[in-house]
Amino acid sequence: MTIPTALADRFELIAVPRSRGVPSFADDVARGLRSEPKRLPCKYFYDEIGSALFDAITRLPEYYLTAAETEILSEWGWQIVRVLDAPVDFLELGSGSAIKTRLLIGEALRVQTGLCYSPIDISTEALRTSSFALVESFPALNVRAYAGDYFDVLESHAVRFERKMLAMLMGSNVGNYEPAEARELLRLIGSALRPGDGLLLGADLKKDRATLERAYDDPTGVTAAFNRNVLARINRELGADFDLRNFDHVVRYDDVRGSVDSFLQARAAADVRVSAFDLRVHVAAGERIHTESSYKFTGDEIVRLGVSAGFRPASAWHDRGRRFGLHLMVRE
Ligand code: AVJ
Repeated sequence: MTIPTALADRFELIAVPRSRGVPSFADDVARGLRSEPKRLPCKYFYDEIGSALFDAITRLPEYYLTAAETEILSEWGWQIVRVLDAPVDFLELGSGSAIKTRLLIGEALRVQTGLCYSPIDISTEALRTSSFALVESFPALNVRAYAGDYFDVLESHAVRFERKMLAMLMGSNVGNYEPAEARELLRLIGSALRPGDGLLLGADLKKDRATLERAYDDPTGVTAAFNRNVLARINRELGADFDLRNFDHVVRYDDVRGSVDSFLQARAAADVRVSAFDLRVHVAAGERIHTESSYKFTGDEIVRLGVSAGFRPASAWHDRGRRFGLHLMVRE
């Protein structure tokens, strides 16, 4: 894609390399397929195809999370951008298509002149497309995009902080981390921020099993394709021979941990070869590979998580159906 220079002036893409000691895709796949039970980290869903499939998920009626969060942002965006004193800049972790963020950018530009938006995303392609569209829509916007893992980008100190910052972790992205990791991530965000900066944290709320399981197992099979794509990616990038038709998409809400867990379950036993590291893995009939946990929260749990990472709760908003919560916390 060629970008007109007038727009390119307001858009910068910085590729942040993996920090030393951080495992690569190949390392994580080798380790995950050798462990018992087998698992694959969910961040590897998001290659170009996976990002496009996720985008389709956000438009499914069963996946109510995006609609609920969008409702909150359309209704309350004007208030959200007024909690911290203007002017602020935005730092977003996991911006994806940045469709929802548009609502906040629009509101911010009504109360201040100019805004610098710094999205961090694992998908370079999603960053390039969304950033270009944003600078095209908002003439007073500058975008400095960082491609990489959240931890790698924040630990690299590549992100520039000039004005007061509103950091955002929306879409219930926080739910993809184990509780201890989620606290670490929030602490890391807090250590990048200064006192008085904000964190806007979006969280899917605990609710009945049927609604939760349907959100991750839609009848059209888009989420199943999204889940299987990680095997297709291993085939493509690491020269493996997973037969995707041998794996069923399985979803269970574990109401003790409060997590919707996704698996790929083998129909029949199979021996899979991964040529990149000369690995042969045996998968038994009925065996499940864990591919994602999506934790659900109560309002109190979100507040406690923020407080444990050095934030003070300032305000919270919900959609009319109380399915989803957006919490604004201030760095102490
Ligand atoms: C937006 C990454 C948090 O866990 O709800 C959607 C990803 N997985 N359907 C989530 C996802 C299956 C999503 N996150």
